[in-house]
Amino acid sequence: MQDQLDRALSEAEAAAGAVRTRAELEALKARLVGPNGSLTAVTKVMGTLSKEERPAAGKLLNAAKARAEALLAGLLSKVEEAELAAALGPEVDPTLPSPDAPAGVLHPLTRTRERVLATFRKLGFVVAEGPEVETEWHCFDALNTPADHPARDMQDTLYLPASFRSADAPRKGEEALLLRTHTSSVQVRTMLGRKPPLRIVAPGRCFRRDAVDATHSANFHQVEGLWVDRSVTLADLRGVLDFFVKETFGPDAETRLRPSFFPFTEPSFEMDIRSPDLGRLSGRWLEILGCGLVDPKVLEACGLDPAEWSGLAFGLGLERIAMLQHGIDDIRHFYANDLRFLRQLA
Ligand code: PHE
Repeated sequence: MQDQLDRALSEAEAAAGAVRTRAELEALKARLVGPNGSLTAVTKVMGTLSKEERPAAGKLLNAAKARAEALLAGLLSKVEEAELAAALGPEVDPTLPSPDAPAGVLHPLTRTRERVLATFRKLGFVVAEGPEVETEWHCFDALNTPADHPARDMQDTLYLPASFRSADAPRKGEEALLLRTHTSSVQVRTMLGRKPPLRIVAPGRCFRRDAVDATHSANFHQVEGLWVDRSVTLADLRGVLDFFVKETFGPDAETRLRPSFFPFTEPSFEMDIRSPDLGRLSGRWLEILGCGLVDPKVLEACGLDPAEWSGLAFGLGLERIAMLQHGIDDIRHFYANDLRFLRQLA
């Protein structure tokens, strides 16, 4: 009987090496412990043994069954492992860098902003910031923009509901809150918060109730500049802005100041540039920013004595600068996040 059991088991063990699939495992199992299996056949012999022979035979049989079970269990986990590996596909090392991990790039507007700020830093300007939700006083009144000014019309400015409160934009009194229409409000917050001399550039998002088209967006970005000191003059304004334009558009770019009007500067100008390196816009005067000397009424509203202090201010649109630099003809490209557009400018 021992021989019979040994033979059955060694046969099964020899066959086990070739088992790869669940079907092959089931076949082996059947050959061993199935109704016609080799171990089952030995079990049947038990019935023919005498009472005295049975205990010893039973022991042998149990040991053989345990060996068979261990063999089958080992094979089952081998088969399951193989099935899992097949389901997972080829071996993966998750610590290796992906072969196609494209590095992202900064958005063109972000890069334009960083370049603009870096240029003004060279002249000693530091970056300042103010809230996007602004009070009517900081956005308009303090900037000498009276209540009947068209900019304060509901048609042009996005006002917040009367119940809206903002911790970022502390109010003077009970004035309305709105989404700032320009970064000039940061001029006001800076002058109120710090003593001159001041030289700041304030980048930020602005909002206007504009219909969106190729050159208008209800949401756009500006960089504000403010320099307050004793006897800041128009010559300083020109010097600062000429430097900015040459750094941004190259040494061949020319500038001109065209008289204009803003409630918060006096005199006020629009600055145009002309450059031979602007593609199809080359050689034409193109408006790039608004500027002027800070109106004495604004200094007063911010608690500065106009007899002692004077200032220059400018505000430029980042979209406009980026559009001129890259020859972009539609402002909406900046917000669509079409990868073909973003890659082109990378
Ligand atoms: N705030 C003006 C605008 O949004 C730009 C400006 C800023 C003009 C500072 C003069 C001085 O159009």
